[in-house]
Amino acid sequence: MMKSTRSYVVPSSAQRMAKELPTSTMPETPQESEALFHRVMDGSVPRGSQRPIYLDAQSTTPVDPRVLDAMMPFYVDQYGNPHSRTHAYGWETEAAVNTAREHVASLVNADAKEIIFTSGATESNNMILKGIANFYKSKKNHIITTQTEHKCVLDSCRTLQEQGFEVTYLPVQSNGQVDLEMLKKELRPTTSIVSIMAVNNEIGVIQPLKEIGEMLKTHGAELSKQLGKGVPKPFFHTDAAQALGKIPLDVNEAGIDVMSMSSHKLYGPKGIGAAYVRRRPRVRMEPLISGGGQERGLRSGTLATPLVVGFGEAARIAKNEMAYDHAHVSALAKRLKDNIMSRVDKVILNGDPEGYPGCTNLTFQYIEGESLLMALKDICLSSGSACTSASLEPSYVLRALGLDDANAHSSLRFGIGRFTTEQEIDFVCDRIVSVVERLRELSPLWEMVQEGIDLSSIQWSG
Ligand SMILES: Cc1ncc(COP(=O)(O)O)c(C=O)c1O
Repeated sequence: MMKSTRSYVVPSSAQRMAKELPTSTMPETPQESEALFHRVMDGSVPRGSQRPIYLDAQSTTPVDPRVLDAMMPFYVDQYGNPHSRTHAYGWETEAAVNTAREHVASLVNADAKEIIFTSGATESNNMILKGIANFYKSKKNHIITTQTEHKCVLDSCRTLQEQGFEVTYLPVQSNGQVDLEMLKKELRPTTSIVSIMAVNNEIGVIQPLKEIGEMLKTHGAELSKQLGKGVPKPFFHTDAAQALGKIPLDVNEAGIDVMSMSSHKLYGPKGIGAAYVRRRPRVRMEPLISGGGQERGLRSGTLATPLVVGFGEAARIAKNEMAYDHAHVSALAKRLKDNIMSRVDKVILNGDPEGYPGCTNLTFQYIEGESLLMALKDICLSSGSACTSASLEPSYVLRALGLDDANAHSSLRFGIGRFTTEQEIDFVCDRIVSVVERLRELSPLWEMVQEGIDLSSIQWSG
């Protein structure tokens, strides 16, 4: 019997790389990548060849084939509008949406009615921060967040600041966690929302959610009472884009009132996410999008059924397999760290050692992260910095931990996921070790360090 294979699943593989893919043929620029893409599309190059190893799981993850299988019928067969109330096509897709909503809710111990589907965590963060701030603005005008949030939280806060809201950006400790005493001091009677992410996307640090939730219910509520009866406590928002399906999340246990989620970080499709919005006590917000009143009136627009179904299936799988995935990712992260740190000198592990292991951030001192990335064209990594082609700013997250510019520039983020293999990790380690050695041989700074010169004592001219 012929073995059936899914043509849409093309995992990266160290073994295949070693056999089939001379690294000299890897695309080195976006232009070369685009040319290769067209050659694959016209059939002149086989699919899956010349593809580097993917170690960037915080950026996005592949769709799990089981998720894609669940989605397919909703593109071609069950294509009804889930908001059509007058016929079977609408009823069947509505049922599928309800099931997906239950899977997402169940992953975080919420009620299905508290899940509002959005296009992703960026939209959820915008909707929650701007929506709550504006709804309660007659009594409260203060927001607290941290310096290490994702850009979409920081930019939403900046927009609110420009509109007259006051925002406190809490610094973090050297392991990346917030200082709870400092948070307590910054709380005011007028604080409407405290937004602190669950898992950081650059360093994997996990914030003490339960302690924060508790503080807002007690001290935060006391302060709000000063404004009069019925004034709600500061709402606790967490951006859980990197935490969902990776670590246990329980909105009730952690006292979370609102939460942002994304599907494409947990092996679901891109373009879909959700906001958790607590019903009791009720959290109110001004909707960003007006229209047909779908999603409790908070997010109008026809739901993308296939994407919703995919997100639901990804959540269902993540709940069932969380322990397995976590053990797999932990073992690979340990293998990577042990291998690299035992063979290379002057490597620093950034963030909290107890953080999420699938996000491992290492500083290779005395090497430019960008040169390292360029020399590692057969591995897809992120420098962990908010580099754009126009500006080579070092990562604000690493700077907030106290790293100087040089060390922040010398850092790489290793994003390990469900489909990463031991072979891939070993391949990556060998490549890193040889490239770091080569680049350091070329580095005058490294030579000076080897000679025992203290670089911080040097007065550089010019
Ligand atoms: C912590 C965090 N928040 C928000 C986002 C944005 O998510 P989305 O791509 O679903 O808009 C990301 C993704 O990069 C993230 O890592």
